[in-house]
Formats: sequence, structure tokens, C-alpha cells
Amino acid sequence: MDPRKNPYAPGAGTKPPALVGRDRQIESFDILLERLENGYVEQSMIVTGLRGVGKTVLLDVFREKAEARDWATVEWEVEKNVTFAPRLAAQVRRALLQIAPKARWTDRLLRAAAILKSFTVTFNPDGAMTAGLDVEALAGLGDSGALSEDLTDLLVATGEAAQDQGVGVVFLIDEIQFLQPPELEALIVALHKCTRRSLPITLVGAGLPQIPRLAGEAKSYSERLFRFPRIGELDAATYARDALILPARPLGVELEPEAVDFMVDYTQGYPYFLQEYGRIVWDETSVSPVTLHDVRSVLPLVEGGLDESFFRVRADRTTDLELRYLYAMAELGPLPQRASEVAARIRRTVEQAGPIRSRLIDKGLLYTPGHGYAAFTVPQFDRFMLRRHAELGEC
Ligand SMILES: Nc1ncnc2c1ncn2[C@@H]1O[C@H](COP(=O)(O)OP(=O)(O)OP(=O)(O)O)[C@@H](O)[C@H]1O
Ligand SMILES: [Mg+2]
Repeated sequence: MDPRKNPYAPGAGTKPPALVGRDRQIESFDILLERLENGYVEQSMIVTGLRGVGKTVLLDVFREKAEARDWATVEWEVEKNVTFAPRLAAQVRRALLQIAPKARWTDRLLRAAAILKSFTVTFNPDGAMTAGLDVEALAGLGDSGALSEDLTDLLVATGEAAQDQGVGVVFLIDEIQFLQPPELEALIVALHKCTRRSLPITLVGAGLPQIPRLAGEAKSYSERLFRFPRIGELDAATYARDALILPARPLGVELEPEAVDFMVDYTQGYPYFLQEYGRIVWDETSVSPVTLHDVRSVLPLVEGGLDESFFRVRADRTTDLELRYLYAMAELGPLPQRASEVAARIRRTVEQAGPIRSRLIDKGLLYTPGHGYAAFTVPQFDRFMLRRHAELGEC
């Protein structure tokens, strides 16, 4: 089919042509905003899931929803080794300017800006985050040097300013597992205070599945503050099929049911894999309807494409020893594995293997679903490792 019209969208955070299977999360988000608008308390949410399941896409839908309700929205992807406080201050600055243009700032907004100035002077003395705000720091608020306290002052003041203007503020934070524990703790503490005051300000996050545990370790009450909906594979009988069929239909292209079954089966309904398979089938097939034979014959291309675009980039950042660890896990299967069993397979004690496992967690390839366990953050990574081993005979 004409590649110029290819509707499928494999990528990072790229909007899928048919966003399916996420109605529940989208509805929860709508309810959250509406309740906050009406002064009710509501648990916020942090969406969790493996790589490529659609967390970033969902955050983007949340942003659109919030904007449609005239909320101020600030999106932010946490990066490792980027200092937290200045980034946060920059986002609060953006939020204040969205709440109202500066020419129309009321006392509450000026006060929030003054606390932002205190916060910036305290945590980023050289920065220019308050550039253009033209305010003096407000002594005694946002300037104690204790991150939790100061962030609480800042977010409460921002929430009050928003309330004063009859709008809300939502922080959309992606890759939230990369926050350092004190940073996550400070955000939770600050948000808790805002919730207790029924302010229209909230934080919605997305991250890898260890987030509920990290948040619980940071503050035990975090599970009362957040829900942690987990997203993953699209249901094979319905949504995964729709993700393939719906984008092609308006362009006059049909897929035979057996072809769809085969693609859903191979991808296990993982959103990124569905998009990649769909894209390749579209480019490589010339007539509609697409048959089982068509989708089978491009399988090597799909596998090669996924290896290149999704798996190899992650495996390339590992040392030989780390690869051996990953391979040992892959041999044990796709489920979470006991650290002791993996260690035994690479002929190490648990203590010796501990640092290897920690580095792999740090690199974002593994997470710990429970004490003493490790699991892949990337779906089908076990299959990739076994494939790679068969090809190269390495590890
Ligand atoms: N509900 C959905 N239906 C169909 N395709 C989807 C859906 N959600 C996401 N996708 C597709 O899946 C791919 C991955 O989406 P996204 O980048 O949001 O995943 P992610 O969970 O944020 O991954 P990562 O953890 O690597 O950041 C994209 O190509 C996107 O178009
Ligand atoms: Mg993402």
C-alpha cells in the first residue's frame, strides 16, 4: 500500500491512529478533574506499565482533556541526572502564566510568584527561572531549604492562585520513577497538603511498575493519595484487533480475520508491537484484503524492525556481565524471577550478583516487582535475548 498514507504510528509517545482500550483511565481522569473543580477530594493517579504500552500517549490525552476544560497544564518528562528543583520551578512558572496573563495578575498570583522567587533563590541561586516575573522573594515561605516544606508552600500558593481565578492546574509527569526518593517524597507531601485544602491542583504521573512501591517507601500514605492503574497489553479479542483494523478501514484497506489473529498473537497485544507490525504490513502488501500469508511473510522484517528500534537500543547500553544476567533471566522465562535463581545460573552468590542487578535496574532494564525478585521492564525482552543468543552465540 502507499507508504505515504500508512496510518500506523510506531514510536515513543506518538499518537496512535486508533487509541483503544483506555476508556476506563480516561474516564477516571475526567472524574478527577470534575471533582476537583467542584471542591471535592479525589485520589490522583500514576499510570504504570512496561515500556511501549502507551503511558506517554495516555498522559497526552489527559493533557488534551484538561485543556478542553480550561485547566493550566504542565507536562514534564523526568530525566536522570537533571536537577529537580529548577525544573519544577520552571514548570510552576509556566503554570502561573497559564492561570492568567501577567497583566491580569491578582494578589494571589503575585504571592505565588513571590514564593516561586524564594524557592528559586533557595534551590537554584544562579538560575533565571523567575525571569520576566518581576517580583521580589517572599521571606519565610519557600525558602527554608527543606525541599518538602518549600515545595508545599509553592504548590499550595499556586493552587490558591488557580482557585482564585476559577481554574485548575495539572502537572503531568512522565518517567516519574526517575525522581530521586527525596524529590518524590517532596511532591507527595506537597500534593497531600493541597488535597487537604481542596485546592484545584493535581499531579498525574506515568512510570514503570515499581512506582507504587517507590511512592509507598517515600510516604506510607501515598496509596491513599494516588491510584496506580496499570496498563499493558490490549485485550486480544477486542482492542488489539481494533488497533489494527480501525486505522486501515477509512483508507479502504481490510485485514482478513486470520491475518489479524496472527498479528495479535505474535504481538501479544502490546501497543508498540501492534503499530510496528501494522506499519510493515501496510508498506509491504499491495492489495486489500491483507491475508494470513501476507502477514506471515513479513514476520522476519517485523522481528528485525523491533530488534532495531526497540530492543537493541536497550541491550546496547549493557556490559557483558549484565548481558549474561539478562540472558540467564531470559532462559528462566518472561515472568519475574527470583534473584537467587538468576545468580545461581551465572554462578554467583546473591551478594555477588546484587550489584549487576542494581545496575540493570538503574539502566531501566529491570524492575523489582517484589522483594528478591526482578522482572524485565520491556515486554518480550526474554524472546529478544534468546534470539540474540542464537544469532551471536554470545553471553
Ligand atoms: N491505546 C493504544 N492503542 C493503540 N496503540 C497505542 C495505544 N497506546 C499507545 N499506542 C502506541 O504504542 C506505542 C508506544 O506508546 P508510548 O510511547 O505512549 O508508550 P510508553 O508506555 O510511554 O513507552 P515507554 O515506557 O517506552 O516510554 C506508540 O507507537 C503508540 O502509538
Ligand atoms: Mg513513555
